[in-house]
Amino acid sequence: MTEEFIINKTQSIQKQYEELILLIKSLLNKKDNIISNLSNFTAVLKQNFEKISWVGFYLYDGEKLYLGPFQGKAACTQIELGKGVCGSSALTGKSIIVADVNKFPGHIVCDSDSKSEIVIPIIKNNKIRGVLDIDSASINSFDETDKEFLEIICNFLVEEIF
Ligand code: SME
Repeated sequence: MTEEFIINKTQSIQKQYEELILLIKSLLNKKDNIISNLSNFTAVLKQNFEKISWVGFYLYDGEKLYLGPFQGKAACTQIELGKGVCGSSALTGKSIIVADVNKFPGHIVCDSDSKSEIVIPIIKNNKIRGVLDIDSASINSFDETDKEFLEIICNFLVEEIF
């Protein structure tokens, strides 16, 4: 692979996400294994956004969420539905932005560097398949723009990869 999959950071965050979406669509491939696709996906996010300290998937096995492909420090391997930010998002099917993890009741500390977080549920045919979890070492790192674009990106994953 010769391409570096780096987006232009001098443009607006909206344009950065638009470029990221094109890049993800060119990198991921239905014919590849889902683990390969999700692994490359996390790498591309981590290498393009300095604010991301940890990015990865927790996948649902019908009982609980288990740690999937990720980039960042080693993390907890299992999360029950309804627990923490990931389990809450998986249970409600709604994206959650946490501006300050210390203020989210029940937040699960995997990485003590994490100060804020965003979690997007992955839902296919009305069934929860997992969540995309992104952490930052600064508070207040994620807003409605991140949510809007990450939901678009997760919809693409649902349609093409999961
Ligand atoms: N903080 C998450 C746990 C996963 S780690 O951040 C990687 C939560 O509360 O669900």
